[in-house]
Amino acid sequence: MAEVDLLARLPQARRNLQKRAEAQTPENIAIARQYGEVYFDGPRELGYGGYRYDGRWTPIAEDIVRHFDLKPGDRVLDLGCAKGFLVKDLMAVLPGLQAYGLDISHYALTHCEPEVAGRLIRASAERLPFSDRSFTAVLSINTIHNLARPDAVRALREMERLAPGRGFIQVDSYRTPEQRDVFLSWVLTAKFHDYPDGWRALFQEAGYTGDWYWTIVE
Ligand SMILES: C[S@@+](CC[C@H](N)C(=O)[O-])C[C@H]1O[C@@H](n2cnc3c(N)ncnc32)[C@H](O)[C@@H]1O
Repeated sequence: MAEVDLLARLPQARRNLQKRAEAQTPENIAIARQYGEVYFDGPRELGYGGYRYDGRWTPIAEDIVRHFDLKPGDRVLDLGCAKGFLVKDLMAVLPGLQAYGLDISHYALTHCEPEVAGRLIRASAERLPFSDRSFTAVLSINTIHNLARPDAVRALREMERLAPGRGFIQVDSYRTPEQRDVFLSWVLTAKFHDYPDGWRALFQEAGYTGDWYWTIVE
């Protein structure tokens, strides 16, 4: 188990905190949580503001391959894969790698990159339709915080079941009260978030022995 910043080479997102804070109505939160067209390709206040492939995940895919010492033929699952950008880049940086994705969003999966068609499945993270130890590594980036705490525990148990000790999760967190305030003015979809200690307690409760890192809005 280690804290490791596998997204260090991802460009920082640009955020208009004031505009987002104004958009945090219960109606907008409910719309964002549908993970439909509005969330991915609608206005920035309600989600990504246009979730388009631009190659930014390529360096992250390289770092993931190195971190897990992946080889052709290994199997990797990206939990919360959205349109499959990371799945595509993992297979591009390591030809022969068998990468797959899983997401709850019908919209994202039906607007995926052509290279990953047939490799993405629709399911919810807390119940994964795969057998024990069926993957070399399981990743989940900025997804598990979208589950309520009991489901987040179940999802981590599932990751551990598929690839014991070979997980990586990145989740919303904050190290100071000031960072927490900034996060609260930005958050739309997250149902559970906490300081690192709270997350580590959750990891332990789930028996999760993989790696992790934090998304901190600044
Ligand atoms: C912030 S996006 C992250 C997408 C991608 N991993 C990335 O970093 O660009 C969160 C993703 O989690 C998915 N999601 C939300 N709840 C989920 C659940 N219960 N099971 C699986 N995926 C879920 C959403 O559809 C969305 O694609």
